Amino acid sequence: MSLSADRDRFEAQARPLMDAHLAGVPAALREAVTYALSVGGKRIRPTLVYRAARALGRGDAPALEHAAAAIELVHTYSLIHDDLPAMDDDDLRRGQPTLHRAYDEATAILVGDGMQVQAFSLLAAAPGLTAERRLAMIDALAAASGFPGMVGGQYLDVSATGEALTLDALKAMHNLKTGALIRAALALGGHAAGADAQELAALDRYGEHIGLAFQVVDDILDVESDSATLGKTQGKDAAANKSTYVSLLGIDGARREAAALLDAALAALRPFDDNGDDLRDLARFIVERDR
Ligand code: IPE
Ligand code: IPE
Ligand code: MG
Ligand code: MG
Ligand code: MG
Repeated sequence: MSLSADRDRFEAQARPLMDAHLAGVPAALREAVTYALSVGGKRIRPTLVYRAARALGRGDAPALEHAAAAIELVHTYSLIHDDLPAMDDDDLRRGQPTLHRAYDEATAILVGDGMQVQAFSLLAAAPGLTAERRLAMIDALAAASGFPGMVGGQYLDVSATGEALTLDALKAMHNLKTGALIRAALALGGHAAGADAQELAALDRYGEHIGLAFQVVDDILDVESDSATLGKTQGKDAAANKSTYVSLLGIDGARREAAALLDAALAALRPFDDNGDDLRDLARFIVERDR
């Protein structure tokens, strides 16, 4: 199945679940949430949810839309807060002014807070699962979003700004700030599909490699692409004096790293038959993308 088919599925099936929670919310706040969710995102994490389940032959598992909505909500919240003046201070996101520019900082903070909590409500209500599975999904997303995951990684990022990190420290930071949510997307799709421990471990090994590759490529695109293609401000990392794969290894070194991570991700998918092909394609897309 193509990336655009998975994106269309997300818009048709998962988006309405996100919107359902907005009934009764003040109109201006609802408008801000809709603004942040409406355009431009590549929807890679929901696509991972769907494709993990398809790799296990359960692409129609009933909990998948709740899982897809939950991971995209946490990811979108992480971007809204990442762009705030106290963090990366960015003006452009997904091809439009960042939420705090289009509205104001208080609204952006609150929209992020609300999205994060809404994600867990959606998992708590995911259909067709045992209570144990639902708890495992909630636990996986909580760990990946919180101090041992994205939040911890973002803290390392902002506190290391202006300092040169070692490659190991940079890798550890990337694994947390970006890799953790990508691995969580695979775990959510796996749980929704009834994966056993071995299947979850194989998905996680794949996620470890593409998660790191994803941020390596994000660092490369920050140098090589342009703001119009990216939909966000190009050149931000160098301007803010961030340690990135490019600042440490150079463009060619970063590209070699991404290629090695792609090979490792494909190797991790060996236990899966042809049903894993869409995950194979997604790994290639993550490394070859231009935005
Ligand atoms: C950007 O993520 C932030 C990182 C974790 C590097 P994406 O590149 O997936 O952003 P959208 O969702 O497509 O806007
Ligand atoms: C952000 O990394 C990762 C998260 C939002 C968790 P970046 O700061 O590099 O993301 P962009 O480049 O602004 O999308
Ligand atoms: Mg950042
Ligand atoms: Mg940023
Ligand atoms: Mg970046």
